[in-house]
This record gives sequence, structure tokens and C-alpha cells, in this order.
Amino acid sequence: MVDSPTLEQIVSLAKRRGFVFPTSEIYGGLANSYDYGPLGAELLRKIRNLWWEFMIERRDDMVGLDSQIMLHPQTWVASGHVASFTDPLVEDKTTHKRYRADHLIEAWVEAHSDQVEPNFQVVDLNLETMAQFIEQHKIKSPDGNPITKPQTFNLLFETSIGSVSGEKSVVYLRGETAQGIFSNFKQILDSNRVQLPFGVGQIGKSFRNEITTGQFVFRTLEFEQAEIEYFFDPEETPWEPLLEEWKKYMWEFATEVIGLKPEKLRWRQHTDKERSHYSKDTYDMEYLYPFGWKELWGVAYRADYDLKQHIQFSAKNLEYLNPFTQKRIVPHVIEPALGVNRLFLAILCDSYVDDADKQRTVLELKPGLSTYKAAVFPLVRNKPEIVEKARNIYENLRKTARVTWDDRGNIGKRYLSQDEIGTPWGITIDYQTLEDDTVTLRNRDTTEQKRVTIAELSDDIR
Ligand code: GAP
Repeated sequence: MVDSPTLEQIVSLAKRRGFVFPTSEIYGGLANSYDYGPLGAELLRKIRNLWWEFMIERRDDMVGLDSQIMLHPQTWVASGHVASFTDPLVEDKTTHKRYRADHLIEAWVEAHSDQVEPNFQVVDLNLETMAQFIEQHKIKSPDGNPITKPQTFNLLFETSIGSVSGEKSVVYLRGETAQGIFSNFKQILDSNRVQLPFGVGQIGKSFRNEITTGQFVFRTLEFEQAEIEYFFDPEETPWEPLLEEWKKYMWEFATEVIGLKPEKLRWRQHTDKERSHYSKDTYDMEYLYPFGWKELWGVAYRADYDLKQHIQFSAKNLEYLNPFTQKRIVPHVIEPALGVNRLFLAILCDSYVDDADKQRTVLELKPGLSTYKAAVFPLVRNKPEIVEKARNIYENLRKTARVTWDDRGNIGKRYLSQDEIGTPWGITIDYQTLEDDTVTLRNRDTTEQKRVTIAELSDDIR
């Protein structure tokens, strides 16, 4: 059995079985953009629901929010995104294709690890040192052509809204959901009986003008974030243990709620040079994707950077008044920021099993993540009593769980088809069922089959 799939295997399964389709394929596709098919939409919905339940509903120090994609443009000036939300861009001088300079350098370093210092980190390079590195090592584009010097490229997407008498004004599609939380901070305080420490979480689309292509849903122009800003008074709640607490909580979600394998997850602390402009300390939870260890989920200590910026730019008082001590403070924040689509991809990679012995591909999804809890199969289609019995069982199960019906082809093929989309149980109704009201219950992961009574079924597949 091989349990580390290639990206090609994942892309192929995702398309074949309706998890992920290339966007606008009938027009030749759109770079770094994907649509989620029937099963993908279900998996995304389950991820969102599990996150919301674990991060917000289950805790008494969290509330939710659903802010707009387009915020007042000053938001992004205040947050620093207009000035510094950039990637280093280079262009192939012949083909004019664009690349991220750091990604080209990373690829070169991987191929020439003996030519750099052991503690060399691409993330520590700035625009100038990247230019020197490219020149020194004569790094070319993937097509083998010379490239331009790296330049900053802003990732914010701009659009315009018709405002007063046909004038156009620039707005940005949000580059992170976080800013909607900061700009609503005062309204949440005034409308809810929240006291520090407390957090605000939201799930929604963010947009970044990413240059790098070819990483499937890992890096897309449009993606979903599930972010939390956890507000606290650093004099009452020291930030270091709080950050550790959040790291533990995130790890529990990834490994126990979602079921990712702990050996495919690790924490990596950002270096001083790498950290974002707003952060005092940042860790990435990385997953071992088919293309290496990459960021799945970040957690940053943003201090009071954002609220202070918004106070300055809006001239509004966004302070918190402690109801007991009457002390006024600008709260600090810890920010766990998850990419929903990156978790989606990690789940597919983590659960994909190429079971060569049994000539099958299995998605060993946790039962809470599979679209269907079970599939119901009448052994044959031409025996009305069997079909009717199976239909009754199917309709009964449907009252409490999402189950699917399949009566096409032979039973072995039906099992394989359900294995590939992660359905944990197969229920086969056969001649014996007509005599003793028992069915065959097949386990997706072990392929073991046992005979159970119809009455026992709903316990098994819950
Ligand atoms: N508010 C903090 C923030 O946005 P980030 O590390 O830039 O931090 C958070 O983004 C998460 O969003 C990342 O850990 C990643 O999972 C996801 N993400 C970022 N850019 C993405 C992209 N282009 N496509 C898919 N997911 C992305």
C-alpha cells in the first residue's frame, strides 16, 4: 500500500469523482482557479461546520461574524496591505511569463543544496539580496531564459464601484478576512456582552493576485479563510502561554476533529526577517503535501498593531473599557488563520490510499467528512423483492443519515466506486435478506464483511 499520493493522483481523483474541477474549463480554464463539484462542495461545507462548531459554538469566549468582501478602501491603507502586501516578482525576458523570485530561488537551492550555507533560508532574503543571489548563481526561468530583477508586486485585487454621479472609486477585494473583524471590533463590543479575553471568528472568501501556478487548490486567486482574532489585555493575560494554548487547540482540531496524521504535521516558527509587518511572533502549522512541507494554518501574535492603525486612520475610539477597573486599553490579538482549501487538499492527500493488493483507491476519510455515511446496494436489479427490500432499507436510513443508492454494474465495482469517494459502509441486500432480514455490511478500510440484522444497521453507520 502506498499512502503518500502524488499531486497528479489527487488531481485526477478530484476531477474524476467530482471534488474539484478547473474553473471555466469550457473556455480553456483560468489560472489558479478551481470550482468545487458536488462532493467537493460537501467536503468544504463539512470543514466549515466542524471549524465553526469547534472554534465558536463550543467555547463561551468566542462569537462569530460575517463581514463584507469589499470594505472601505482606507481599511487596507490602515492595515498596511496597500503599502506592503507584496510578493517579489520576476519576468522571463523572452516569454514574459511571470514568477515569484523566492520560488525560483527555492527550486534552485533544492537542486544545488551543496552550494549554499547549511542554515541558508530563502525566507530571509529581501528584494536586494534576492537580486544578488539570482545574478550570482545565474538563475534562469523554468524555460531556461534570463529573468528581470525582482520587483514588488501587490497582491490586492482592485476593482471600482460606481459611487456619486457615475464616479468610480477604487475598492479592494479583501486580502484577508481579518480586517473585517478589526473594523467591526467596536460594534461587537457595543452590541454583545463580551469581555476580554474573547475572540471573533469568521469564514469567508479572500482574494490574492497570486503569480505562482501549478499547486492545485493550495494557492489560488480566490480562496476561503477561517480566521480568528482573539482579543486580550497583555497585562492580564501574557501572550506567550496564550499563543501556546491556541497552538494546542489548533493541533487538536487538525488531528482529532479532522483526523490528519500527526506525523504529516509540524510547527515552524517564522524567522525575524520573514514575519509579516504586523506580527511579533508567528508559527505555521505545516502539512507534508505531495510538493513538500507547506503552510496549512498560521498563528500570529499581531499585538495591538491593527486596532491602533484603525484608530489612527478612522479617528474613532476603538478602546476597550474594563467594566471592573475602568481601565481603557487597546487590546492585543492572537490570530489563528486557516486556509479552508488548504485543509481540503490536506484531507484528500492524508486519506488517499492506493491499495494495490486489492486494486483499489480508497479515501479513508473520517466518517464525519464523507458525503455519504453508507451506500445501499441491491445485489441484483432483476429481482423485484430484493430491490424493494433494499429500497425500504435505504428510505429508512435516509431519515437519520445521508446514504446513497447504487444498483449499477456488479457488486465489486460498486464497492470500489464508493471506496474512492470515502463512503465508510457498504450495505448489500441479497437473497438471504429475504429469508432472515440480515444484510452484508462491508467496512471501507478493512473490506471486511459481516452479516448484521437490518435493525442493527442504524447503530453501525451512525
Ligand atoms: N490574516 C492573516 C493571514 O491572512 P496568511 O498566512 O497570509 O495570514 C492565512 O493566510 C491562511 O490562508 C494561510 O495559512 C493559508 O492556509 C491560506 N492562504 C493564504 N493564501 C492562500 C492562497 N492564495 N490560496 C489558498 N489559501 C491561501
